[in-house]
Amino acid sequence: MSSVPQKAFSLQSIVRPNIWALKPYRCARDDYSTGILLDANENTHGPALPPPEALSTSHLNRYPDPHQSLLKSLVAAHRGLDAASTGFFVGVGSDECLDLVVRVFCVPGKEKVLVCPPTYGMYGVVAQVNDVGVTAVPLDVEGGRFQLRVDEIAAAVEANPAIKVIFLCHPGNPTGTLLAHDDIRAVLELQAFHGIVVVDEAYIDFCDQGASVVSWVARYPNLIVTQTLSKAFGLAGIRLGAAITTPEIAQILNSAKAPYNVSTPASALALSALSAAGLTTMRTHVSSILAQRDALISKLGTVPRLGPTIGGNDANFVLVPVLDAQGRPSNPIAKSVYRAMAEQEGVVVRFRGEELGCEGCLRVTVGTEEENGVLIEKLRGLLADLA
Ligand SMILES: Cc1ncc(COP(=O)(O)O)c(C=O)c1O
Repeated sequence: MSSVPQKAFSLQSIVRPNIWALKPYRCARDDYSTGILLDANENTHGPALPPPEALSTSHLNRYPDPHQSLLKSLVAAHRGLDAASTGFFVGVGSDECLDLVVRVFCVPGKEKVLVCPPTYGMYGVVAQVNDVGVTAVPLDVEGGRFQLRVDEIAAAVEANPAIKVIFLCHPGNPTGTLLAHDDIRAVLELQAFHGIVVVDEAYIDFCDQGASVVSWVARYPNLIVTQTLSKAFGLAGIRLGAAITTPEIAQILNSAKAPYNVSTPASALALSALSAAGLTTMRTHVSSILAQRDALISKLGTVPRLGPTIGGNDANFVLVPVLDAQGRPSNPIAKSVYRAMAEQEGVVVRFRGEELGCEGCLRVTVGTEEENGVLIEKLRGLLADLA
């Protein structure tokens, strides 16, 4: 083979600077991927699928339905929405929805999104990938309240007309806390804000039915609600999320997407999960997870050196502070407990102590009764050594 002629080539000089500056997104699975996995807020009870029905492979030589009309109609039915007057986009997880919203609404290098930390890390990642700035207006974290500071959000959008998208996480990750409806409404109605409000409802199926604001899309022309099959439906592996909004916004999102973004197998499994039998399984899993969550919270309360869980406990995980000998939340101790749990005890949780208002906290996904039993026993063993 003849040698390749030498010429000056600098990868850095041709990659967009905002992309070059990216640090790979660290997800829960980067650190540990084996053992009892209670780190990524997945559904530990399994997928909401009726008994295995052979997936038809006969159409896999054809591209999937670009519009996913049947899937959208089942999402509409499940949410009690009128399919004809509501807009839907379905994508590769709600993460695709979040990215597409930023791509559609924010001009790179000029415009911004507003986030309310502590919150889901992908809002910042999709902003950076799209060369879009981030304005942070922290939640009121006092005493684990984790609520919006609407006056501060109002001041930020007034001072910063470049803010085009506001991301609200309801219930929040890592806070596990539902936002007050009045506050969400106040943000939607801010006179000085002319952009889009995204309410991320990834965990909404763990909450009472009235908690969702999805029906508000009929009233607010600037609202997008994102939801997912990754959590309550136990289908994180198929990557299926939805943006539910006005028909006008959905049309724009759908024009901007790749034509066949949702694969045929993902779509078939999603249809199955949204069938009557799938929904029954989902509801059974959710009620078991909620019962396990209550049991877990009370058992965590008996472990030495753990404080009471903070936040609303409205999702399928809890945030629990690890305390020092004086009873103060401690990041160094929480981090070493997190490592020892994963490396010695085979139980993976997530250290969230560096998030605002979460000092010393471990975020623990609610497991099965057996998994929670092992978690408590291992935590008790490790923390008793410190006490
Ligand atoms: C608040 C929040 N939104 C969205 C997602 C991502 O969901 P999906 O799997 O649908 O991309 C997560 C996943 O952990 C999350 O915590």
